[in-house]
Amino acid sequence: TQQRITIIPGDGIGPSIVESAVQILTKLDCGFEFEYADAGLAALEKTGELLPAATLESIKKNKVVLKGPLTTPVGEGFTSINVTLRKQFSLYANLRPVISFKGTQSRYEDIDIITIRENTQGMYSGLGQTLSDDGETAQATSQITQQGVKAIVTFAFELARKEGRKKVTMVHKANILKSTSGLFLKVAKEIAAQYPDIESNDMIVDNTCMQLVMNPAQFDVIVTTNLFGDIISDLCAGLVGGLGMAPGANIGQDCAIFEAVHGSAPDIAGKNLANPTSVLLASVQMLEHLSMKNKADKLRFAIRDAIAAGDRTTRDLGGESGTSEFTQAILERL
Ligand code: NAI
Ligand code: MG
Repeated sequence: TQQRITIIPGDGIGPSIVESAVQILTKLDCGFEFEYADAGLAALEKTGELLPAATLESIKKNKVVLKGPLTTPVGEGFTSINVTLRKQFSLYANLRPVISFKGTQSRYEDIDIITIRENTQGMYSGLGQTLSDDGETAQATSQITQQGVKAIVTFAFELARKEGRKKVTMVHKANILKSTSGLFLKVAKEIAAQYPDIESNDMIVDNTCMQLVMNPAQFDVIVTTNLFGDIISDLCAGLVGGLGMAPGANIGQDCAIFEAVHGSAPDIAGKNLANPTSVLLASVQMLEHLSMKNKADKLRFAIRDAIAAGDRTTRDLGGESGTSEFTQAILERL
């Protein structure tokens, strides 16, 4: 049967970079059927809702989503749509791979790191965020469960095995956050012991940040809790040339959402300036998720070669071309 994909173009630069991905996936001849759905500001204007029921239905039915960045209106009592989607579909694993490509503004050449971030618990569990009546004291609750740690750390080791990766680094702050990070580390080590074929170590998060900048080649797979993973994965994006180069996948038991990790870039929206690489690499992740490894590799190499050639890249990559010319350069390589 034909694989149907829910396509959420999103806001700002979203529609143009997602269109680039749809053109390229069509050219790759994956046999996908694309079902468009709205979310974010685009949906709010059309339907009065940020996340319409029809969009949730489409995700539930198709189980695979490619999504552009969404603008969550600020200060109007709206909760983040991305957080809502992660909760609604229990997308507990956030996969953020970074690879260095020649021709980007990166100072490293040999980076190939995947950060696996727990996506639903920890400081972002949304529990007990309070501010005292006098505005003096703010408080938030972090919650970690054994089951949650088991799921994410097992995911990391299984991925390492499947992708032939050598090492898993478990990142924490158990020296200070004795209960939450302490539980993470204890359970993570128990899981690691079940994978003797894969090297593992643990590292405190602040040291990890320093080590990533000084000597990133020592890292392969990083697994960590929600807040640390959020920060570390952006740091990793910086190592390979910025957010425009970094894709993300949100994976749960039933559904998976693939996305660009950057925002809707209102400053360059509608000007044919956006770099589509992030959402294109998210498409590579999606093809891998659907066990279409050959197509995934083909697309990754086409992106890599187009960036290395450098004659038709976008401004953030040091080029002078627009989204459509850069897309064309990739299409020609397929
Ligand atoms: P942003 O990522 O949209 O932009 C930051 C800077 O990076 C801007 O200068 C922008 O022009 C540049 N940039 C981002 N993506 C680019 C690309 N593909 N090519 C070239 N340059 C690019 O972050 P900002 O400005 O903080 O947020 C703007 C909006 O995006 C906000 O409404 C925010 O809520 C939303 N947002 C949505 C996310 C999502 O849906 N996953 C993630 C982050 C922000
Ligand atoms: Mg983030």
